Amino acid sequence: MTAGRLQPLPSAVAIHEVAPRDGLQAERTFLPTPQKIALIDALSRTGVAKIEATSFTSPRAIPALADGEAVMAGISRLPGVVYAALVPNARGCERALAAGVDEVNIVMSCSESHNRSNLRMERSASLDQISAIHSLAMGAAIVNVSLSTAFGCPYEGPVQAAEVLRLIERIGRFGIGQITLCDTTGMAQPAQVESLFLVALREFPDFRFTAHFHNTRGMGLANCLAALMAGVRHFDASLGGLGGCPFAPGATGNVVNEDLVHMLDAMGIETGVDLDALIDVARQLPALLGHDVPGQVMKAGRYDRQTAAAPDAAPSRRNVASGPVSPPSNPAFAAMAADSDRH
Ligand code: COA
Ligand code: ZN
Repeated sequence: MTAGRLQPLPSAVAIHEVAPRDGLQAERTFLPTPQKIALIDALSRTGVAKIEATSFTSPRAIPALADGEAVMAGISRLPGVVYAALVPNARGCERALAAGVDEVNIVMSCSESHNRSNLRMERSASLDQISAIHSLAMGAAIVNVSLSTAFGCPYEGPVQAAEVLRLIERIGRFGIGQITLCDTTGMAQPAQVESLFLVALREFPDFRFTAHFHNTRGMGLANCLAALMAGVRHFDASLGGLGGCPFAPGATGNVVNEDLVHMLDAMGIETGVDLDALIDVARQLPALLGHDVPGQVMKAGRYDRQTAAAPDAAPSRRNVASGPVSPPSNPAFAAMAADSDRH
């Protein structure tokens, strides 16, 4: 198997916001329905192309999203925004269609162990569900399949590209042409991302591929860039970096949406997203959820933000980026700092 050629950078890409599903499914405390609705409505106004609003899963498996119907009924849908929901089986698809989603996003894993842990079924049973869901949804909603653990499995380790391609081919045979490759627990690295997407795009040129990365090991944005350079034009990301699969050990948040949009904006790549509006919504998250979130740009501000220099303060090594630094309280660090000041 040989990889294709790198693509020229695009002028525009589409951003899919997944915090209301991937983010909130991992929250310990149930976010009340009106607050979920307010969050989705605020996200709708930022210009994202798609919002994964909820999932229609077993409420015992994902109690945090047990209110999918009420959420879908309560949101104000903006024209041009695709409202998607994750479904694990035909039952979930029926609920999603009754709730009027624009897109059903069917989930299955590339690795047998994660599929069993997440969906309590073999992959062959998931493929049967995908076929049934496609028949149910045809003509009523867009069908997308999210392939979890496409870059590695927390139970099985590396996942072979050939296995991912085999599943894409099997799913394509049902007549489905939208696939998201998910790095469920942040195991992907950029060279692997580039190589898998290059081959997938070459082998399945009519498919629409989306990249879905988690930043568990700090490689999220690098992986987005690798996918972009391989030719991917659709990206899942999560406000504030919320997220994580409750059925994968050590799972943490998705790529931070506003950090991704910020990077693309700095590179001159259009996303259609109002970055300042997105940052404003992200800054509401700590109060909404009762904890800090990993987003960086929401704390640092945009890269082109100008900070007024303090009068008469000659910039030093220490205060150029972040202002005055408090003296270290740990004596060992204080000694190190004093030592470094002498050099
Ligand atoms: N929506 C609501 N309820 C559902 C459902 C759905 N989509 N699918 C199954 N159920 C209910 C069944 O009716 C049954 O209810 P009962 O016990 O009151 O009769 C119960 O859930 C168990 O059904 P069963 O078919 O035996 O499912 P399971 O216990 O083997 O679980 C899944 C299978 C797929 C439903 C469950 O594992 C699931 O929802 N997983 C989602 C995981 C997820 O979203 N992970 C994060 C995203 S990657
Ligand atoms: Zn995810």
